[in-house]
Amino acid sequence: MRITYLPDEAVDEALDAELRTLLTRCFGGAFRSKRYHFEMPQHRWLAFDEDALAAHVAVHDKTFACGERAVPFIGVAEVCVAPPYRGRGLVKALLKEAEAHFRKGPFAILLGDLKVYGSSGYRPVHNVYFPFEDATKPQPGVLVKPLRSEVWPEGRVTIEGPLF
Ligand SMILES: CC(C)(COP(=O)(O)OP(=O)(O)OC[C@H]1O[C@@H](n2cnc3c(N)ncnc32)[C@H](O)[C@@H]1OP(=O)(O)O)[C@@H](O)C(=O)NCCC(=O)NCCS
Repeated sequence: MRITYLPDEAVDEALDAELRTLLTRCFGGAFRSKRYHFEMPQHRWLAFDEDALAAHVAVHDKTFACGERAVPFIGVAEVCVAPPYRGRGLVKALLKEAEAHFRKGPFAILLGDLKVYGSSGYRPVHNVYFPFEDATKPQPGVLVKPLRSEVWPEGRVTIEGPLF
């Protein structure tokens, strides 16, 4: 299995079609006409079996607000593995590559199932608000991994824009 990094701007027409096929297969119709759900990610990690696209992770460059601080983070999104390649640890392998690329961190954040991401070091947090969705309640299902030694803040964390 070969794992490759690609900035989204380097995605050509052929890969765009492959990505839409994989994303549609894994998530359903929203991806049929585009290779992103709500907004285009800047980075992609792809796992290939020979020439076949086996798995994909997208990464958004983002910033959250906590009090007066603006903290950069990577937003991990659209994690998917083609059915024949599931159960082989590809999620962990792709995340490892993506996280290593962003050592300056300090955090990786995703919305997902702890059972899938717990073994990669992601932990649930309950203080993240997406005002675009609901400014009154913290968003459920938010998982965080510190990429350096920084401790996750305790106050209200606000992420502008849509879910990713
Ligand atoms: C979820 C998905 C990415 C998992 O792919 P995979 O190749 O089976 O994942 P891995 O082999 O790398 O396993 C990673 C961990 O997830 C767990 N896992 C995988 N599928 C799971 C499921 N359906 N329910 C619970 N846990 C699951 C594995 O047991 C493993 O845990 P471990 O490391 O503690 O042993 C894949 O099933 C998929 O593409 N699904 C459709 C798209 C999707 O739901 N993406 C996630 C969006 S948040």
